Amino acid sequence: MAMKRVTIEFNSVFREVNHCRRRYRVLKGSAGSGKSVNIAQDYVLKLMDPRYKGANLLVVRKVEGSNKDSTYAELLGAISRTCGDKADLIWDTTTNPLQMTCRITGSRVIFRGMNDARQREKVKSITFPTGKLTWIWIEEATELEESDVDILDDRLRGLLDNPNLYYQITFTFNPVSASHWIKRKYFDITSPDIFTHHSTYLDNRFIDEAYHRRMELRQVQDPDGYRVYGLGEWGETGGLILTHYLVEEFCRDQGRFDFMVHSQDFGFNHANAILTVGFKDGELYICDEIYVYEHDTTEIIEIAQKKGLSKSLRMWCDSAEPDRIKMWHKAGYKAMAVKKEPGSVRAQIDYLKGLKIHIHPDCRWTLKEIQAWRWRKDGRTGLYTDEPVEFFDDAMAALRYSVEDLRRRRGKGKPRSGGSRIAPGLFG
Ligand SMILES: Nc1ncnc2c1ncn2[C@@H]1O[C@H](COP(=O)(O)OP(=O)(O)OP(=O)(O)O)[C@@H](O)[C@H]1O
Ligand SMILES: [Mg+2]
Repeated sequence: MAMKRVTIEFNSVFREVNHCRRRYRVLKGSAGSGKSVNIAQDYVLKLMDPRYKGANLLVVRKVEGSNKDSTYAELLGAISRTCGDKADLIWDTTTNPLQMTCRITGSRVIFRGMNDARQREKVKSITFPTGKLTWIWIEEATELEESDVDILDDRLRGLLDNPNLYYQITFTFNPVSASHWIKRKYFDITSPDIFTHHSTYLDNRFIDEAYHRRMELRQVQDPDGYRVYGLGEWGETGGLILTHYLVEEFCRDQGRFDFMVHSQDFGFNHANAILTVGFKDGELYICDEIYVYEHDTTEIIEIAQKKGLSKSLRMWCDSAEPDRIKMWHKAGYKAMAVKKEPGSVRAQIDYLKGLKIHIHPDCRWTLKEIQAWRWRKDGRTGLYTDEPVEFFDDAMAALRYSVEDLRRRRGKGKPRSGGSRIAPGLFG
């Protein structure tokens, strides 16, 4: 079959990565350095290549359900860029089960999670119609435990009948903490089996100008965060604000919660973040997010309407922008300002620390923020202060707003989730 490569292009920083045949291919890098796109494209080309007949790819994220919008979407994009209008002729892709099979080679891509014992057990019994499991891609690998990777590593064994084939695990991640086991296991030693790689958004020629500006801002406002997400260097080991959260799939029907709210932190150059949060038996569930940069209020309202954001829930908003609250209110949402007072940020954080937090894997930006949300360090003493770093904290601000009413009303009756009462004075 004559195949026209349509618009597939690579960043040169990954050239060596894509030729590497070592068992462990470990890619650390800043946000937006092009790791995920590169690995997706690399695998799509290899799986279509008859020289690698018998190869199959297992794609792993900590939470199985996160694959659909990340790794699966990335591979689908790579297929479409590689095969153009022949994509359906060359690849059979299904979402239930999440799976891709190359019709030329018979090679297959499957997706799994490692979040609990059942899922860990499931990866032990993987088989393929042709060939063997040869390649594993672990995306956002810092989410996994070391023991998860050991289980996966055990799957790659036995003689391969195609001499071109080799076993390989690819890791892609942001180096969130210098105390992470990945650093110890792959970076602090040298071994002929390990290939480590470093990339930053500056190596990615496809990144847009606005992204560069945001990163420059971050360099000034959040130097520690910039080290990880801008430079791709190993991050601080301490100072995280929230650590007691769980990323997992759960039922998001309104009826299963004691009550639900929306909460919103306004932004334009910073993100505008809207969370939908449920409360049940003293635990907090972050069910959904809208997270956009450089959109005006009218555009964000349109997004919310398309998404079907419920208008029956209270929407707690940043009080600094009453005009925006008014626009949301006019659009039919129960938008209401969160009252601010000295010490309220700290009090909200303390309150959040007392709640068990569940994050649905669809809330990708919330997860990115919570993993990076830290106390500010005093430049002189090097000690952490009791103020959070005010950067990349927009979903975290929305999260704080979501508990404010509850925090104030502790022991004073049911919180306001619906109803039509409007903050006195706000709308005349
Ligand atoms: N080879 C490529 N061809 C076209 N666009 C690309 C390519 N590589 C990267 N990009 C663009 O750059 C963006 C960022 O790349 P990517 O998502 O791969 O970064 P990343 O290193 O995985 O970031 P993160 O650490 O945040 O997950 C992509 O969304 C895409 O728009
Ligand atoms: Mg990525």
